[in-house]
Amino acid sequence: MDCAVITGAASGIGRACALRLAATGATVALLDVDGASGTRRDIEERGGRAAEYAVDVTDDDAVRDVIGALPGAPRVLVNAAGIIVRKKLLECSVEEWRRVVDVNLTGYFILLRHVIPAMTAAGGGSIVQIASIAGHTGYGFSSYTAAKGGVLALTKQLAAELAGHRIRINSVSPGVVESGLNRDTLGNQAIRSATVDNIPLGRLGEPDDIARVVAFLAGPESAFVTGADLVADGGMISTIHWGEAGAQLHSFHAEER
Ligand SMILES: NC(=O)c1ccc[n+]([C@@H]2O[C@H](COP(=O)([O-])OP(=O)(O)OC[C@H]3O[C@@H](n4cnc5c(N)ncnc54)[C@H](O)[C@@H]3O)[C@@H](O)[C@H]2O)c1
Repeated sequence: MDCAVITGAASGIGRACALRLAATGATVALLDVDGASGTRRDIEERGGRAAEYAVDVTDDDAVRDVIGALPGAPRVLVNAAGIIVRKKLLECSVEEWRRVVDVNLTGYFILLRHVIPAMTAAGGGSIVQIASIAGHTGYGFSSYTAAKGGVLALTKQLAAELAGHRIRINSVSPGVVESGLNRDTLGNQAIRSATVDNIPLGRLGEPDDIARVVAFLAGPESAFVTGADLVADGGMISTIHWGEAGAQLHSFHAEER
C-alpha cells in the first residue's frame, strides 16, 4: 500500500492537505509534535485511512524511525510544519533565529533525507514544500523570510537532483491564510482589515485554498511540473502597494484626460 506523508498535520494548511489527500483515497501519515488525533478522527469518520505520529520534525532519529514504520511506501510528501517569530532582525535572539530556521528549513531537509530513499525504492513520487510569499518579498519577519527563501531555493535545486529518482518536487507559496500560525494577529480587527485591503481577491485565504493547490502538485495532473513555485495569495504579491501615491497617480491622470 502507498501512503502520503504530511508534516504539520494537526492544524491549518497541513491538516487541510491531509483531509484532501485522504479524500482522494490515499492512506495518510500525519506527523506533528503532539500527534494529530483530531485530523485522524475526522479522516476516519469520512471513511479515509490515516496513521498519526507525535514527532518533532527537527529530531533526525525520531523522523527516521517514523519513516521506517509507515503504513505503506511514501509516494507523496507534504512538508508543512512551521513556526514564526514576529521580530525584526535586531530584536531576534540567536536561539529564536536558530529555532525558526531549524523547524522551517532544516526540518524540511530532515524529512527529505529520510523520505527520498523510500520514495525512490517505491518507484518515485511527488514532494510539495509549503514555502510562503514571505520568501519572495520580504513580507514576513527576518528569520521566517530567510527560512522560506531557503525552501524556495532548495526546491529548485532538488528538481534536477531528484528527476532521475522519478521524483517531482515543487513548492507552494501561500499568502495570508487563517490558521493557528496567525490566529493572534488576525484576531486584531485593524490588522485583519488592513491585510484584506491588500489582497486583490478581497479575502483571506483558507487552508483548503492551499490544500487544493497541493493536491494538484501531488497528483498526476501536474506530471510535467517540477521545480516550480505556485503562489496562492489572492493576488497579493502581483500588485505593488502604492497606497496614497497610487490614488494620487490615478487622479492626476484622470484630470489630464
Ligand atoms: N498561515 C499563513 O498565512 C501561511 C502563509 C504562508 C506560509 N505558511 C506556512 O504554512 C505551513 C503551515 O502553517 P499553518 O499556517 O497551517 O500554521 P499552523 O500553526 O496552523 O500549523 C502548523 C503546524 O506545524 C506544527 N509544528 C510546528 N513545529 C513543529 C515541529 N517542530 N515538528 C512537528 N510539527 C510542528 C504545529 O504543531 C502545527 O500543527 C507553515 O510552513 C507556514 O510557514 C502559512
